[in-house]
Amino acid sequence: MPDFALARAAARAEIRAGLRRTPPSISPKFFYDPVGSDLFERITRTPEYYLTPTEIGILEGNLGEIADGIGPRAVLAEIAAGSARKARIVLGGLNTPAAYAPVDIAEEMLAGQAAEVRRDFPALRVIPVAADFSGEFAFPAFDFDRGRIAVFYAGSSLGNFEPQEASAFLARLARAAGPGSRLLLGVDRKKDPAVLNRAYNDPGGLNAAFNRNILNNVNRLAEGDFDPEKWIPHQFYDEGKGRIELWLESAGDQTVRVAGEALRFAAGDRIHTENSYKYDVEEVLALAAPGWRPLHHWSDPAERFSVFLLTG
Ligand code: AVI
Repeated sequence: MPDFALARAAARAEIRAGLRRTPPSISPKFFYDPVGSDLFERITRTPEYYLTPTEIGILEGNLGEIADGIGPRAVLAEIAAGSARKARIVLGGLNTPAAYAPVDIAEEMLAGQAAEVRRDFPALRVIPVAADFSGEFAFPAFDFDRGRIAVFYAGSSLGNFEPQEASAFLARLARAAGPGSRLLLGVDRKKDPAVLNRAYNDPGGLNAAFNRNILNNVNRLAEGDFDPEKWIPHQFYDEGKGRIELWLESAGDQTVRVAGEALRFAAGDRIHTENSYKYDVEEVLALAAPGWRPLHHWSDPAERFSVFLLTG
């Protein structure tokens, strides 16, 4: 079977297994079809989603220290790169970076990111890597004279893993990047629930549309006939669990065909689509500890967000 057919079959099986669970769930990695990627990019530009401008402010305000900590001739390997907006800031501060390697599950995004970085840094090698980084992971052999690998994992995407998985993922990254490598990690902090609830419930409804759009992607990947209009999106902060939760609630009794099965949903039944954990500094360091030792971290004055530099 060709690679894309294998990937398609795996996605279909994963969707089917998730929807059979109690409660049913769909992995957040299925948010990122072209429409979902675009919706997420637009969310990051809403005034309520403070995460992005706050992280950018921290990177820009501490670029010299960050670059010193990473060192010369680094390969900046950005996980889940999105728009590469933040990587371009970091690359601009680095001492003679050897290459930029965007790593993303959404293959459609990679070409765009590579092009944007090439425009700003025409002399820099750009090595796009398409990978599903929720599983076992290896960097390609960066077979040219270089310094260390500096993994850049921005945007608090770490929060979309369960904490145990987040820790295991960081440890896998450390093994893949090798001894002496660096990890530049952006993480959203615990804070006033009202601020968090606003960020995930923008008045323009982009977060709601993003949540619902996962059903369109499921329809494509697993021959489904979900009608997104019959699902009510919910995004809310659970303070006890320290996480934003995303759910889709059935607006009425309905039967949905997906991956060859007929699934019945009653009004009020819910499908879980995402958790977004928020962490204190000590919690981040504990999650990273199996693979990474802390060098430094920087925060905004209100301590809404932190950027960590760690060494492998
Ligand atoms: C990609 N990730 C860090 C986003 C978050 O905030 O957890 C995804 C998102 N979900 C809803 N809005 C944005």
